[in-house]
Amino acid sequence: MRIAVIGGEALQSATPLLVLFNADGQQLPDSIRELVEDGDWSGGYRKTLLIYPRTALPARRVLLVGLGKLEQISADRLREAAAVAAQQARDLKVERLSVALPSLSEIGVGLSAQAIAEGAALGLYRFDTYKSSAENHAIDALEIIASGEASDEATKGANLGEIIARGAAFARDLANQPGNVLVPAGLAEAAEQIGSRFGMDVLVLGMDELVAQGFGGIVGVGKGSANPPRFIVMEHGSQHKGSAPTICLVGKGITFDTGGISIKPADSMELMKMDMGGAAAVLGTMQAVGELQLPLHVVGLIASAENMPSSTSYKPGDILKTLSGKTIEVINTDAEGRIVLADALFYAQRYQPAGIINLATLTGAITVALGSHATGIMSNNDELAQRVLEAGEATGERAWRLPLWEPYREMVKSDIADIKNSTGRLGGAITAGAFLHNFVGEYPWVHMDIAGTAWTDAKPRAYTPKGATGVGVRLLVQLLRDWAA
Ligand code: BES
Ligand code: MN
Ligand code: ZN
Repeated sequence: MRIAVIGGEALQSATPLLVLFNADGQQLPDSIRELVEDGDWSGGYRKTLLIYPRTALPARRVLLVGLGKLEQISADRLREAAAVAAQQARDLKVERLSVALPSLSEIGVGLSAQAIAEGAALGLYRFDTYKSSAENHAIDALEIIASGEASDEATKGANLGEIIARGAAFARDLANQPGNVLVPAGLAEAAEQIGSRFGMDVLVLGMDELVAQGFGGIVGVGKGSANPPRFIVMEHGSQHKGSAPTICLVGKGITFDTGGISIKPADSMELMKMDMGGAAAVLGTMQAVGELQLPLHVVGLIASAENMPSSTSYKPGDILKTLSGKTIEVINTDAEGRIVLADALFYAQRYQPAGIINLATLTGAITVALGSHATGIMSNNDELAQRVLEAGEATGERAWRLPLWEPYREMVKSDIADIKNSTGRLGGAITAGAFLHNFVGEYPWVHMDIAGTAWTDAKPRAYTPKGATGVGVRLLVQLLRDWAA
């Protein structure tokens, strides 16, 4: 779908669908007020009303979309309303969607245009690669109508929204791919493609190099599969090294998690194709960072493996020596994410980063704690944690912090190795974070457990259709843009 900002004069009687946002209690524009019966429209959040204006407005159809109460209007509500509008437009099978930029002083022109572009693009997302007949209609163009003086700012906002949505959609595509198609080598290929498009340095380590260089965590988890593991390094903005902060983004890339020898129950195991949602978010973010040419040194690191049971698999009781030299007693082969991340987080320290942020579908326990409406975060640094919380608030990708107090860190100590990878059910999300803490040294670090937010079956929002959500991309791009500003 093309996205463009146009002036109001471009509207014609042939314009297939004009979208007007309207808040609860706000007057309708004069031109349509008399077309709507009193009481038929209230501006309620996500409500819509389709009207045929005939000659009252230069458009064949007008869709009113409610923004809810004025005092509750936010960029996120506008994003959601734009997704509702875009989905209705698709149902109406129009080719072109024209949206009047609302004048919302609390949000501003740029952010409004960004939210509309983002919401429409994300709302129209679908993963239909494997449908033999794609019978669904697609919209060719989204026009955002802005008056003369607002047009430059609106254009910037719309471009930004488009880039961010593209990053999130890319992450969704990867996480929606089945495990037989997307294996660790496939993630490496995706990284190489992004790297060559945006001039990033990309390094991929395969099994032999991982063994030779001592990546005992990734090798341990990956050696049970015929699809060998990969460690992926992508570097954006090397020229900014030293003059701008270095930020490492680290993703868990388990392309399928059977649980290994500590095998998972069959129920819902198919969902474990999305256990690379953290890696997908890193790749989607790197793509957006490349498109935006952010003046930062951003390093993307992905630890990828397939967790399978076989005669070559690692086993409960095994002890693995990680890249850091620290040893891990394997209690449960299904707690594999923290093991591959141990190597990646330690590797991140070589960049002496101003921040390390890892994203991982790490624990079922975080879904018990927070459900699907917030990502759980843990951190050793209040300032970095605050950046993540604020970026989450700004983008609607909410995060909530859990503690990493000393007693939790005690829980992951092992009797015969340095640490153990499982401690039982109590505080399961936090003990996973406490485990990771062992590998970041003193560098500011935030762990984002996206197990509850990376996938949705319920479609809680119009702009997150069922399946992979691409969570993390919008939050990280916001955080990095704020950091660069
Ligand atoms: N990939 C899973 C966590 C997960 C669960 C992600 C649900 C998405 C949805 C992870 O590797 C895992 O299996 N964790 C175990 C850890 C336990 C064995 C300590 C879990 O949460 O049960
Ligand atoms: Mn697991
Ligand atoms: Zn896993």
